[in-house]
Amino acid sequence: MVNNKPIGIFDSGYGGLTVFRSIFRQLPQYDYIYLGDTARAPYGNRTFQTIHQYTWECVQWLFKQGCPLVILACNTASAKALRTIQQKDLLNEDPAKRVLGVIRPTAEVIGNYTKSGEIGVLGTRGTVQSGSYLIEIGHFFPDVKVYQQACPLWVPLIENGEYDQPGADYFVKKYLDQVLAQSPEIDTLLLACTHYPLLQKKIAEYLPAGITVVPQGDIVATSLVDYLKRHPEMDSMLSRNGTQKFFTTSDDTEDFDHYAEIFFSAPVTSGYAELR
Ligand code: DGL
Repeated sequence: MVNNKPIGIFDSGYGGLTVFRSIFRQLPQYDYIYLGDTARAPYGNRTFQTIHQYTWECVQWLFKQGCPLVILACNTASAKALRTIQQKDLLNEDPAKRVLGVIRPTAEVIGNYTKSGEIGVLGTRGTVQSGSYLIEIGHFFPDVKVYQQACPLWVPLIENGEYDQPGADYFVKKYLDQVLAQSPEIDTLLLACTHYPLLQKKIAEYLPAGITVVPQGDIVATSLVDYLKRHPEMDSMLSRNGTQKFFTTSDDTEDFDHYAEIFFSAPVTSGYAELR
């Protein structure tokens, strides 16, 4: 681990692996450490204070492993904790360290997907309540109308391996019906939770034709490529041995490996991350 300066990737659980998968495809040469706080997931229904506290503990753990750059591959953490981390917590850390989220890079491009000018944003309760997407998309695409829908049962279904089971259909249809009932003009649905790509097959089954579903992985990965080009001081600091390490806060690492493989689309062997 000496002289190793990996990119840290964080999510409350497995969802961030859908983003990591895309990042790794575009930037395979770097070293990575993924941390899933599966012992305390899901974050989606938790308070601002708790989400901030948990996220900051995980970011600090990744810093301790040598990561100078951490990506919050979690919308809930990006919505509820990123600003405080960037504007307060990081001031007491090494000033060269950086933490980036997934909301801004997504908001920067999502308006390009819609022809009707109306987008539905599907996320956790925390993400929706924060209003972050309304604000950020409004900033980059002021003419685009944004409708939000919280899908509080989707992450628990996914984390418990029910995403491809018949029982999931009811809740997939329920939240899709609710978002589409907000306007008949919605032609783009953003999966604003890194877990949701696992439901994409079922989502497609219940959507009327002509609606584009947009997951975030490739968007975030492309944005990271661009970030590293614009920040050579960070890029030159990062080590490049093509390694990937996975950690979970659950003591059952085998269970993590089983689900992580599904999200990452490749075998995963994880270690236990003891936060304190
Ligand atoms: N994957 C996280 C996100 O993108 C949410 C998971 C959770 O509720 O913990 O919002």
